[in-house]
Amino acid sequence: MIGCGYLGAVHAACMADVGHEVVGIDVDPERVDLLERGEPPFYEPGLPEVLTRARATGRLRFSTKMSDAAGARVHFLCVGTPQKAGENAADLTFVDEAFAELIAHVRPGDVVVGKSTVPVGTAERLSEALRTAVPGARLVWNPEFLREGFAVKDTLHPDRLVYGLDDDDTTSQAVLDEVYAAPLAEGTPLVVTDQATAQLVKVAANSFLATKISFINAMAELCEVAGGDVSALADAIGHDARIGRKFLNAGLGFGGGCLPKDIRAFMARAGELGADQTLTFLREVDSINLRRRERAAEVAREMLDGSVSGRRIAVLGAAFKPNSDDVRDSPALDVARRLHQHGAEVRVTDPQALRTAARTYGELTFVGDVEDAVAGADLVMLLTEWPLYLGLDPARVAGLVAEPRIFDGRNALDPQAWRGAGWTYRGLGRS
Ligand code: UDX
Repeated sequence: MIGCGYLGAVHAACMADVGHEVVGIDVDPERVDLLERGEPPFYEPGLPEVLTRARATGRLRFSTKMSDAAGARVHFLCVGTPQKAGENAADLTFVDEAFAELIAHVRPGDVVVGKSTVPVGTAERLSEALRTAVPGARLVWNPEFLREGFAVKDTLHPDRLVYGLDDDDTTSQAVLDEVYAAPLAEGTPLVVTDQATAQLVKVAANSFLATKISFINAMAELCEVAGGDVSALADAIGHDARIGRKFLNAGLGFGGGCLPKDIRAFMARAGELGADQTLTFLREVDSINLRRRERAAEVAREMLDGSVSGRRIAVLGAAFKPNSDDVRDSPALDVARRLHQHGAEVRVTDPQALRTAARTYGELTFVGDVEDAVAGADLVMLLTEWPLYLGLDPARVAGLVAEPRIFDGRNALDPQAWRGAGWTYRGLGRS
């Protein structure tokens, strides 16, 4: 497993757990040390247990040396493809460097499996380089759809498996069938296709999800001006099975290490392929998403009679979504930073993400628990819907704040319960 981030570390542990012999390789010695001790370098429910179990079998180890890939029959490429600084396109440096280094240890008959999210065309380029360097070795594209917070479940019981084969590469298909014997035996749908389609499936899926979220957030904007309730609207349209209720939660919008950069890289790649017009709607998806963050800051100002300056604001949630300590492009921290820049005294809390948040958002004040965050607050803002916060007792919290005002940036609280306990409640797109 080349690359031990969210994708590679989870995949390595799960593949060892189902019986394969796995070595996880990463350039970061600290990450490798932690994994060798059975400690995940990030918060992922269920992963510590799988890691410990797999390590105990002796089938899983981690290393910083690419030469440890020698002798493996299958080489998974799981390195990151972040957004290039100042551009929409994906940065393929890690993919290209890892691949160039790996190739020296690949033997004829081995299979290289691409899992990273890449611009379409990358697999074909790597396939050709591999064929030239190691005749008899093959490359297959096998995109990964795991969600943070559900990564173990999504890896062991995926919704579907996709193989993007180079021509009629039945050998790689047989090898992957062997690797994924467990989920395939459980009847996981398998789509066998060409490499271009397999690469596109991943970005198409993420673009669709992002579009669904921005669609409902556009409806939230309309509900705000027309006096409607976007949660009731989502319930009503979601009952139509063709639409479905999932991913129709309006609020602060999407963040994280995938959706935002994937839609941007997809637009950039379409442009490079001469299809500039095709994905312009994703530009709108992106701007609707970013507008929600500014709107949240605006509602905070409105709730504090026109200015946040000098006011104490409690922010509940720092991670980009619950059940994760990932703060990459976190909508919650973006809003917290805006309020801080406007002179508010912001105190942020989160059950898991304080350490990662403090690294990137050093200017903000982080506190360990809800009580500390809300003490004497003029406004409480729920920005990441951790179950812990959804279970708060409005009457008890009212006794801790200076003024009972709550902004529900994820439309996740029960407005009546909070209003009933004397709070001024505002959501996004809900009256
Ligand atoms: C996503 C894809 O779901 C996954 O298949 C892919 O492999 C990687 O990218 P992830 O980034 O872990 O996974 O998070 P996801 O659960 O998809 O949520 C993305 C963002 O959308 C979060 O910020 C979440 O808060 C937001 N979201 C989600 C909404 O704003 N509304 C919704 O209804 C659902």
